[in-house]
Amino acid sequence: MTVEIRVPASSANLGPGFDCLGLALPFFLTVHASPSEKWKITNQTEHLPVGLQPQDHLLVRTALWTAEKYGQSLPPCDVELSSEIPLARGLGSSAAAIVGGIQLANEMANLKLSCEEIVHLASELEGHPDNVAAAVYGEVVVAIDLGSRTEVMKLHAADFYWLVAIPNNELKTSVARGVLPDTYQRDTAVKSSAVANMLVAALSIGDAEKVGFYMEQDNFHEPYRFSLIEHAEAFRRDVKRLGAFGTSISGAGPTLLSLVPAEFPIEQLSSLYPHLSLSIVTTWGAGLETKQIAK
Ligand code: HSE
Repeated sequence: MTVEIRVPASSANLGPGFDCLGLALPFFLTVHASPSEKWKITNQTEHLPVGLQPQDHLLVRTALWTAEKYGQSLPPCDVELSSEIPLARGLGSSAAAIVGGIQLANEMANLKLSCEEIVHLASELEGHPDNVAAAVYGEVVVAIDLGSRTEVMKLHAADFYWLVAIPNNELKTSVARGVLPDTYQRDTAVKSSAVANMLVAALSIGDAEKVGFYMEQDNFHEPYRFSLIEHAEAFRRDVKRLGAFGTSISGAGPTLLSLVPAEFPIEQLSSLYPHLSLSIVTTWGAGLETKQIAK
């Protein structure tokens, strides 16, 4: 049996929804796998780790961990990978590898895991459910890990247009989490919680102006992370001047995500920010997809 597993990119937080909100984007990690004598990984594109032994690869480690957790053995596989999700840019590349690995074990060891179980396992590995829930379910998700289960609620947001601005440098999540404070003052926490609630309400009624406004009101992490992304302040101002509703850091960065109108003049930004890879996409609605392509 050969399976094809396709996992979308994801953008976590949307500003104030720190470690809780996520949205799926139409850039994909695609995994083709079939049982083999021994593990083999072939990279068919860029945006994939190089020089790793198969068993050191996050996707394979996750697949083996998942099968073992369910007391099953996973046959070695010949795995071909293609990716459109750049590494360490805040677009959920590790979440995609984790979800892809769990689904590989699910298919090859016949675990019969539900989406709820996949998200819960992935959240355990990632430490927070925002990216993994969006990667599994698609659209915009609100997610919380409750210990014994991970609860996910999905919001329809497929009509939104997102400007994705990807720099060519990496920013490790551990570095971007390392600049955050350990505690917050009560007034900061109360205001940040209120702002996150308003953002979810705006998403649920599809009000792009309000979503954009609240995306920029975070106090949990963006004030500390903005200085890690050299162009962030100027970019936020420039896209606003050109008609964007709002901009936040995508996940831990350094990619920036702006909510924009469909007719946003992206070409005017390209000349201002030649070092950024810019694209406008809509929310990806489908989430994780799997098909058997041969017996
Ligand atoms: N919510 C996470 C963060 C996403 O902002 O650190 C990156 O893993």
